[in-house]
Amino acid sequence: MSANTCRYRPGLRHWHPLLASRALGRKPIARTLAGERLVLFRTAGGRAAAVAETCPHRRMSLAAGRVRGDQLVCTYHGWSFDPEGAIRCPLMPSQALRHQAYQVREAHGLIWIRKSEPSTSPDPASQAPDPNPPLPSWDTGGLALAGVAFHTVPAPLELTLDNFTEVEHTSTIHQVFGFSEPQAIEHRLELEPAATRVWNNGPQKAFPPLFNGFIDNRPGDTFANDWITTFDPLLTVYDQTWTGPSGRLRRFRLKVVMFFVPIDDTTTQLTTFVYSPKVLPGRLHRWLAAPIIKAVTAHELNLDVWALAQLADLDTELTPRMLGPLDRVLLENRRRLKPAYLAEPER
Ligand code: FES
Ligand SMILES: [Fe+2]
Repeated sequence: MSANTCRYRPGLRHWHPLLASRALGRKPIARTLAGERLVLFRTAGGRAAAVAETCPHRRMSLAAGRVRGDQLVCTYHGWSFDPEGAIRCPLMPSQALRHQAYQVREAHGLIWIRKSEPSTSPDPASQAPDPNPPLPSWDTGGLALAGVAFHTVPAPLELTLDNFTEVEHTSTIHQVFGFSEPQAIEHRLELEPAATRVWNNGPQKAFPPLFNGFIDNRPGDTFANDWITTFDPLLTVYDQTWTGPSGRLRRFRLKVVMFFVPIDDTTTQLTTFVYSPKVLPGRLHRWLAAPIIKAVTAHELNLDVWALAQLADLDTELTPRMLGPLDRVLLENRRRLKPAYLAEPER
């Protein structure tokens, strides 16, 4: 795919969590982000860096290169690239050549990427370097991280977001976290210029016995969702709680922070942080409960991926008269997605 044809390319100006820090050793790794093929590498000093994959000399993949000091060395003719994109060419040492480099940060155990493009405006007032937005942050609500999951969805960003902001499908697709009766769901939608928020309340499906072993939730509980979606980058924070028949809030709750990372026009990566209370004492929680909570959540996300893989076509247009009462947020998300991912920023 050509870099210029990916319609989410404007979204590269946002920070995206692309892969786990521990996945990047001394061997360069090729990845695609919003249609742009890039190579990540780690310098001898441990700094993570990313440059465009194609060597500008004679088009060798820099993923086949090797790291020497703070340079990524192309395996074909030995040109080398530093993390800022400065090129050293053995036969033209005085030439000031540059290659596309990406901004890279490491936080929360992940590697985050964004692209800062120089202004092309003739207005001198706009010649300042692009702002360097802070990495996204979120409130963990005092919960413990159960794990981070990665999923690759064979669907465009819009259709992937559609799935993860409506709950109607939780009755049919999901096995654990879902409503037993969609017609009994109370639903509320709140709109802000930069965010959408949905609340859903209704009867929870029966949990599988294994899961019931260490959480206090029970069949017949009310399942409550509070989901907030923001768009710079595209991110949904899911707060999920359960209430028993007596009206008492259960101790077990689940917080999921999901980044929607556009890979290309028809592929989206989900990078998902899963949080819960500590349900077992001491290290037992970290070694036993946390992996199970993460695995159950990842399993539920696999079901979403399966559902999205069955879409008969990947047209992102919605037909308003075919949308149900739980789908109203989809149209609102479309409106906010456009300036964030589909329109070039004003210069
Ligand atoms: S193709 Fe990379 S140095 Fe020649
Ligand atoms: Fe789902």
